[in-house]
Amino acid sequence: ARLPELLRRMPKAELHIHIEGSLEPELIFALAQRNGVSLPYADVESLRQAYAFTNLQSFLDIYYAGASVLIQEQDFYDMAWAYLQRAAADHVVHAELFFDPQTHTARGIAMETVVRGLHRACSDAKAQLGVDATLILCFLRHLSEEDALATLEQALPFRDLFIGVGLDSSELGHPPEKFARVFARCRELGLHLVAHAGEEGPPAYIWSALDVLNVQRIDHGVQALKDPALVQRLAQDRIPLTVCPFSNVKLCVFPDLASSNLAQLLDAGLAVTINSDDPAYFGGYLNDNFVQTFAATGLTAHHAYTLARNSFEASFVTEAQRHDWE
Ligand code: ADE
Ligand code: ZN
Repeated sequence: ARLPELLRRMPKAELHIHIEGSLEPELIFALAQRNGVSLPYADVESLRQAYAFTNLQSFLDIYYAGASVLIQEQDFYDMAWAYLQRAAADHVVHAELFFDPQTHTARGIAMETVVRGLHRACSDAKAQLGVDATLILCFLRHLSEEDALATLEQALPFRDLFIGVGLDSSELGHPPEKFARVFARCRELGLHLVAHAGEEGPPAYIWSALDVLNVQRIDHGVQALKDPALVQRLAQDRIPLTVCPFSNVKLCVFPDLASSNLAQLLDAGLAVTINSDDPAYFGGYLNDNFVQTFAATGLTAHHAYTLARNSFEASFVTEAQRHDWE
């Protein structure tokens, strides 16, 4: 079969998707109307035109503004359901969805509203789409560790509705060690641990995500190649990297897809996966990332199988569930 067809059809797991980053302009406008929220854009087209980013922060500013239309539990459900339908179409059989509760609780939305809406979409996805979907609560690293600790407390009544915690938002100036205590607490609670590191930030942030936070995966991690000792560590401990090719281009981490270092990371023996990050903002969902990245970098069918296998190996699913898919 043709390579794009193989890439599109193969079963895969998505491990790095911010559910607020799946909010399409059309749904932003529909929810704004439903909730009586006014937007500083005249229409869908002018909002989309604002999606021209120069770095991570320039994206985050508009991404947090977009999330302001999410008010009711049904809004969170509708957002996640739209993503899960697209994921099913891309032959995603397992998804681990990041969500940013502080973006919502800071606006007076209850934690319960956020978590219950997202979780109900995950339950329906299993029943109606055959997609196994779980939630990972992310702490915003531009806020204080005290704020993260308070957020964890607010989430504990819903402990069974998410499987782990992550760390996202503005990386530079907010190293992982800022969150040492809250991650230690999450570890005691038996939560899975991940963190964004080495997206724009230096290899030192990947080291401290591993050695101070004890994370099980690194989100992005593309700056690791600058440090050969770090590459060796990541290979030795088989620490997965959830790489997001479209994101890296849209946020100017790399000038174009051909400059992606995915092939070098794979050649170094790292457990690399491909993910969409914020598909509504970066120009495509998971299969678009696969097809266009393969076309631009000359990856082969052999790499496709490796990436699909890595996505299951790196996921937080049980051995029994994995066995069913492979
Ligand atoms: N939040 C949503 N997308 C993100 C990214 N790529 N990096 C950091 N925080 C994010
Ligand atoms: Zn991300």
